[in-house]
Amino acid sequence: MLSRSFKLSLRFILPLAILLSLFAYIVVPLMDNLTLRWSVRDLDNRSQLLASTLQLPLREYVQANDRVRIKRLFDSAVQDERLFALGYCDSNGQLRYQTASYPASLGCWNEPADGSKRRSLVRLPRGPVHVAETLIQDDANVLGRLILVHDMSFIERRSAETTKYVLGFFALLAVAISALTLVVSHLSWRGWLAGVKDVLRGQLGRSARAPSAAASPEMDPLIGELRGLLEEYHEERQRSSGESGAADWAPEKLKSLLQQDLAGDEVLVVSNREPYIHDAAADGTVRVRRPASGLVTAVEAVMRACSGTWIAHGAGSADKETVDRNDHVPVPPDNPRYTLRRVWLTKQEEQGYYYGFANEGLWPLCHIAHVRPVFRSSDWAEYVKVNRRFADAVIAEARSDNPVVLVQDYHFALLPRMVREALPKATIITFWHIPWPNSESFGICPWREEILDGMLGSTILGFHTPFHRKNFLDTVDRYLETRIEQEASTISYGGELTQVEDYPISIAWPDYPDIAPVEQCHREIRDYLGVPPDHLLAFGVDRLDYTKGILERFQAVERMLQLHPGMVGHFSLVQIAAPSRSDLEEYMSFEQRVRQLAAAINERYAGAGAPPIILKIEHHEQEDLQRYFRASEVCMVTSLHDGMNLVAKEYLAARDDEGGALVLSQFTGAARELHEALIINPYHIEQGAEALYRGLTMPVSEQRERMRAMRDRVRRFNVYRWAGHMLLDAARLRKREKVMQKIRAHSRGGLRRVG
Ligand code: F6P
Repeated sequence: MLSRSFKLSLRFILPLAILLSLFAYIVVPLMDNLTLRWSVRDLDNRSQLLASTLQLPLREYVQANDRVRIKRLFDSAVQDERLFALGYCDSNGQLRYQTASYPASLGCWNEPADGSKRRSLVRLPRGPVHVAETLIQDDANVLGRLILVHDMSFIERRSAETTKYVLGFFALLAVAISALTLVVSHLSWRGWLAGVKDVLRGQLGRSARAPSAAASPEMDPLIGELRGLLEEYHEERQRSSGESGAADWAPEKLKSLLQQDLAGDEVLVVSNREPYIHDAAADGTVRVRRPASGLVTAVEAVMRACSGTWIAHGAGSADKETVDRNDHVPVPPDNPRYTLRRVWLTKQEEQGYYYGFANEGLWPLCHIAHVRPVFRSSDWAEYVKVNRRFADAVIAEARSDNPVVLVQDYHFALLPRMVREALPKATIITFWHIPWPNSESFGICPWREEILDGMLGSTILGFHTPFHRKNFLDTVDRYLETRIEQEASTISYGGELTQVEDYPISIAWPDYPDIAPVEQCHREIRDYLGVPPDHLLAFGVDRLDYTKGILERFQAVERMLQLHPGMVGHFSLVQIAAPSRSDLEEYMSFEQRVRQLAAAINERYAGAGAPPIILKIEHHEQEDLQRYFRASEVCMVTSLHDGMNLVAKEYLAARDDEGGALVLSQFTGAARELHEALIINPYHIEQGAEALYRGLTMPVSEQRERMRAMRDRVRRFNVYRWAGHMLLDAARLRKREKVMQKIRAHSRGGLRRVG
């Protein structure tokens, strides 16, 4: 880092050195000239003083023509170290007396014949001398001239010394300024680097409003730009590595990637939740339901593109009736593209593995939502058993020894290792759809080593954000004996390599040819809700889960009405909450609290027209959600902690009119990408209230500008890109593994030959 800041400083130091040298070049002769003039003036004065001392005796001796005394007088005068010689010229211009040192070439120091002025500074072969004269007079008669010659060689010495000091001074100045520049630039470089590293690590991305402590405040305006540049850079990198731009990510491309780079079309997905649930209706008919699940939304789009087999828990009441004897059912039911293989669980298995270990243990452990995780040995035993059952299903479904297995989520932390043991050549890509906590928080899990060991059976391990990826690397570093390459983000464990990466999940950009125009949705939804046509609506849709910040959202609504009473009776939040994990006590009590708070707020505003909160605790189909998205002025996503949150992206995709505003929690993975949303801390109720008000009153031009940028990003960074990046990385690792195998085989052969 020092050498880099040094190089940068050189850009400043070099011109500075040139400038200072130029300065010295001009200043030194000037100083020389000045000192010379001072010295000449000094010697003029000195000569005058000496002359007046010599005047009297000299006149007397000259008149007496006393050569001996004149010589003595002159000799004693030149004892002075500076006075070099004396001469006396009579009124006829004859040099009559002089000291032995008197330069003959000087003569009587007459005016030059060319009429120019005599100069007191005369250059002689022995060096420069200063010459001055004084008239020796007797009353009004001029007897002659006394010529005084001073040695000037000391001036040259002085000038050389001055030059030395001036140059020394400039050199010192240059060194001091350079050192100061180096220190200041080094410190600034460190500050900037810390800020940039924050952006790269994704810490700033968690909130545009809450930069990390390491970044200096002057970084703020540049953060957005830097993120943009990083995205562009990433795109560029993908392109230059043979991959076309993100805008090109489409189902066909994913399919061809799978066939070309992974040498096969066999994709196996494992998840707990199935993409299609067959339920028996009260009238005896069978209904197909799509679950409220971000995982299903994303992975289903990929499976439609790639085909293959999706292995999941058959949880619908009519699921068993719809499968063949291999427990297979082709889906989507209206236009089959892949096979759903259902795995049946007993009540006890479901209770221990799904409700118990996964949702009472791992779920609260990974989400920082202040609900205490519960770990029971009996749940763990079921979790291990069910992971084994699903692993067996994967092994049974695999038609080759090297299938691509996409393992989904925290329900199957042990499955990658189990599959790896049976199918060592399989490409296992595990994606963790929820956050990963810091190593200390994760450490409270009694089976932490087993979970980490199980996950490291994967070829690739994916998280939504760099922050969760880093937490995972730290956790492994703390609890397992591994070798971690931070730069390459790989973990070497038991002779196997796992690539750990962040792959932000997304949605398939929708194509709804039949969807009603926004104005129609606007009108129909208000008619349906029984509110006036100009009634303002915010919309929230979540699973009924304590991590989603539904209570905080209601509080923000109430606070907004208190702060802006003009909104009372003219605004409502429509909250759809799909029942979820309702067998668990924590979820039952959460539902109660949600119902109570909505009722209490509505009660407080009873009589003011439409209630502020319209709560619908029931499952809704995608088409209905689309209509709500298109009818609402604002969409509220206020999760207390969320891996990504695809509702935010679905809302953007639904708004092809580029209208509406998104209020988004900074604790979602989505906030790292959707910088133009109104980002809030959901725990800060006032902030949520103000963001909601701002969204409701946002000018159309601003809505459009923000929406355009966010929609463009989601369209380009779609779910095919998410899956594509994982598959590309997997292909790269597979190739590397093949090369390594060849090298190993080669070296074994060599050793045998040597032996
Ligand atoms: O958020 C994690 C997750 O697995 C999602 O992928 C999915 O949307 C949700 O939980 C569904 O939960 P469940 O399958 O328990 O209803």
